[in-house]
Amino acid sequence: MAQLSTSADVPDMGRRQFMNLLAFGAVTGTALGALYPVIRYFIPPSSGGAGGGLVAKDELGNDILVSAYLEKHLAGDRSLAQGLKGDPTYIVVTEDHTIANYGLNAVCTHLGCVVPWNISENKFICPCHGSQYDSTGKVVRGPAPLSLALANATVTDDKVVFTPWTETDFRTGKEPWWA
Ligand code: FES
Repeated sequence: MAQLSTSADVPDMGRRQFMNLLAFGAVTGTALGALYPVIRYFIPPSSGGAGGGLVAKDELGNDILVSAYLEKHLAGDRSLAQGLKGDPTYIVVTEDHTIANYGLNAVCTHLGCVVPWNISENKFICPCHGSQYDSTGKVVRGPAPLSLALANATVTDDKVVFTPWTETDFRTGKEPWWA
């Protein structure tokens, strides 16, 4: 079972993060491997609010409130939220304990598994075929061909709002491959 291999591959994950993955990763991720193109086909391109922005939501579909979120998520935390087009997206907490201005799409650029954050390795490590991404989502080991996609993340009215990242990819200095 995918769930079993996921838990075996990531023994260092905290319980909260693991539960997040159960909610988002195991269910969504496994399904995404096969269904991602299908799901994407049925979701309208701009399924958010004005300008394609979308308020980040927790696993229950509730808006994430930044003040409460930061009480539970320490500096350096990377936890999943529902992002643009319903994609599982990591909210990054900076070393200054603020919400980073970018979110990371958790869908592996190899074959679409949801990639868990491995805090002890300080990397995202894909359980499916071993691709690795650094803490900013930059690919550091294949077979994944590309870095994790970025989304802009801004805090407005105590909420995290994701908008499409169309600027230069700050990790590679190149145009975004996902735009
Ligand atoms: S799907 Fe992530 S390495 Fe293959």
